[in-house]
Amino acid sequence: MGRVRVSILGSTGLVGQWMVKLLENHPFIDVVKLSASPGKVGRRYGDAVHWFIPGDIPEYARDIELVSTEPLDHKDVDVVLSALPNEVAGSVESKLLASGINVVSNASPERLSPGVPLINPEVNWNHLEILRSTKGNWLVKNPNCTAAIISMPLKPLQDLIHELHIVTLQSVSGAGYLGLSYLAIDGNVIPFIKGEEEKIDAEINKMLGKQSPGNYEPWGRPIYVTSTRVPVKYGHMAVIHAVLKEPMDRDKVINALRNFRSLPQEAELPTAPKEPVKVLDRIDAPQPARDLDPMAVSVGRVSVRNNVLRMVVLGDNLVRGAAGITILTLETMKHLKLI
Ligand SMILES: NC(=O)c1ccc[n+]([C@@H]2O[C@H](COP(=O)([O-])OP(=O)(O)OC[C@H]3O[C@@H](n4cnc5c(N)ncnc54)[C@H](OP(=O)(O)O)[C@@H]3O)[C@@H](O)[C@H]2O)c1
Repeated sequence: MGRVRVSILGSTGLVGQWMVKLLENHPFIDVVKLSASPGKVGRRYGDAVHWFIPGDIPEYARDIELVSTEPLDHKDVDVVLSALPNEVAGSVESKLLASGINVVSNASPERLSPGVPLINPEVNWNHLEILRSTKGNWLVKNPNCTAAIISMPLKPLQDLIHELHIVTLQSVSGAGYLGLSYLAIDGNVIPFIKGEEEKIDAEINKMLGKQSPGNYEPWGRPIYVTSTRVPVKYGHMAVIHAVLKEPMDRDKVINALRNFRSLPQEAELPTAPKEPVKVLDRIDAPQPARDLDPMAVSVGRVSVRNNVLRMVVLGDNLVRGAAGITILTLETMKHLKLI
């Protein structure tokens, strides 16, 4: 199997650090370039990064000299992995694409562009198939972290659902390393996250819909979202009420969630969780401090009254919601012989 050479943009940020960590000793992906903001270009990664995530800086990354985001610095890699801030990513990624460089990106610009696959591998790996008819290089987007987490338990239930009502409880790390001041969030809940509700609605509709070359047909279900920021470091939760097309037995819902498997599991891809949706039996689960799994989504409080299903969902916003998906998408593309 040929190896995949990648560079990471935004490698010193929270998502970038997770990519650096998850790619240590990867069986077929090699990190050859790391990039950060202009002021850090030329410095050793180990000196420039404020390492914030669990464990030490991987040995392989310490001596890599940080490069810019300019295409010339990335011309000898197979894929650029982007973890740039949204406001920087649009122009940088367009420039890379125009220079013939393939990009998988965590940032929001172009997520809803008709011909750009928005991929959460277990949910819609098949949307990658449109790349077979793409001439030249390509852009693949990761969904918003909350949309990534919520779409996992919705996938096995999608044909039963009429509409969704969702309240999210999103952790502080979702806003990035410098995203939110301690004073703003300590002992507080902020019932507004700019742009988040629209992203969750539109992106879930895209992922659960049908993708064809150059276009997509949304799933077409109304999704009413209220997003809140809570004083938790890691892990996004969501309380979901799904109005079902008809009443359903709770055990059938739980079985559908527990038995959900997709291509990443069948192909035993290195980053794929064995059980993508974990239904927890504990009455007070899931909790960010106890139940956070890097790549699986945890579900608890499952109940069905008449035709309304309630469940509480928890996932790791930095891994399942960002860095882990990027890598699982690359592994899926390699399995599908798209790279
Ligand atoms: N946090 C999450 O839970 C999450 C989840 C899903 C998706 N995302 C998305 O992933 C992306 C990264 O998020 P994050 O939380 O990792 O952000 P972050 O912690 O703020 O990191 C931003 C990274 O971008 C670099 N950067 C900033 N300005 C730059 C510029 N002008 N040129 C080149 N590099 C620049 C920073 O480098 P320096 O260290 O040099 O400043 C840093 O490496 C965002 O688009 C975000 O929306 C985040």
